[in-house]
Amino acid sequence: MNIIVTGGAGFIGSNFIYYMLNKYPDYRIICVDCLTYAGNLSTLKEALKNPKFRFCKVDIRDRKAIYNLFEEEHPDMVVNFAAESHVDRSIENPKVFLDTSINGTAVMMDACRKYGIKRYHQVSTDEVYGDLPLDRPDLFFTEETPLYTSSPYSSSKAGADLLVLSYHRTYGLPVTISRCSNNYGPYHFPEKLIPLMIANALADKPLPVYGKGENVRDWLYVEDHCNAIDLIIHNGRVGEVYNIGGHNEMKNIDIVKTICKELGKSEKLITYVTDRKGHDMRYAIDPTKIHNELGWLPKTKFTEGIKKTIQWYLDNREWWETIISGEYQKYYEKMYGNR
Ligand code: NAD
Ligand code: TYD
Repeated sequence: MNIIVTGGAGFIGSNFIYYMLNKYPDYRIICVDCLTYAGNLSTLKEALKNPKFRFCKVDIRDRKAIYNLFEEEHPDMVVNFAAESHVDRSIENPKVFLDTSINGTAVMMDACRKYGIKRYHQVSTDEVYGDLPLDRPDLFFTEETPLYTSSPYSSSKAGADLLVLSYHRTYGLPVTISRCSNNYGPYHFPEKLIPLMIANALADKPLPVYGKGENVRDWLYVEDHCNAIDLIIHNGRVGEVYNIGGHNEMKNIDIVKTICKELGKSEKLITYVTDRKGHDMRYAIDPTKIHNELGWLPKTKFTEGIKKTIQWYLDNREWWETIISGEYQKYYEKMYGNR
């Protein structure tokens, strides 16, 4: 089996590559990533030693390069992780989000149509459903929940989802889509809530909580997400959408307090800052479909996963310290300087 994994130098894509190389030693994995600020080749250091792995520095919007790659590799499957992924950046600059999610996804699927494919899988997000109110804990996102996006990021992902479903209906492309809740774990880029708070706490810097910190996210350990995608690409029904989430809802403020406690840092570091524009209140997934059809259940409890994650950041300081030492400083100043 030859699998193209796009966006594999980022957080979830790299975890997926390690998961697949480990579980299926006979599979060939070809990573396509153009190495934006969020892509990091050092993340794939170990994979690069594996003869079953190939890295290609290619932009998924580059039709010619993608077609050439398909001619060379004859992939059986494509798993598309490549996207701009940070909501705050999408509020600053929506264009690149639309370019990659919509045009990039179209190029990947056109290549699949031209050269043939057993499965095209689109990695999407629960954010396409918009948000839920805090006072209705009985409500969850199902696969039937209407798409109702809040940010340019989630809108770009929803646009891509609709395009993927249209390629299935119009051209019969064998697609699946997964919509997952917030992930955490190793190689998470330190602009996102959990790694940012870990890095700042370790440096005794303020911990910038947006608004009142009451917003709720449904956190899933990244390996459980990889396991779900593995089940979907092998056993999921073509043309179907699968929600992925572990019923692990937590308020942002409780996440930040947990990190302080685990690192032995004072909660006095917590600083409430101006809220994100259009900030979604609550995400909560109903994962009944993937459980009933594919037997998926998350394995890692949050109490265990957050400990493992913090330990990973303590053991791999060089990885994230290198990232936050360069361009990132300018980003941080711009986003948090006057907040
Ligand atoms: P990330 O930002 O860490 O990684 C994205 C990767 O895609 C990077 O390596 C980047 O270089 C690459 N990339 C971006 N544009 C590209 C292009 N035009 N061509 C080739 N490569 C390109 O993101 P992530 O958190 O790992 O998210 C991966 C996917 O999972 C995204 O599609 C995201 O929407 C989705 N998702 C993420 C979460 C989460 O909690 N992080 C939850 C649900 C779904
Ligand atoms: P984030 O990790 O950006 O993921 P998403 O917006 O896709 O859910 O943010 C998670 C939550 O944490 C979200 O409600 C915004 C909040 N947040 C902060 O309070 N402070 C921060 O510095 C960041 C990056 C996020």
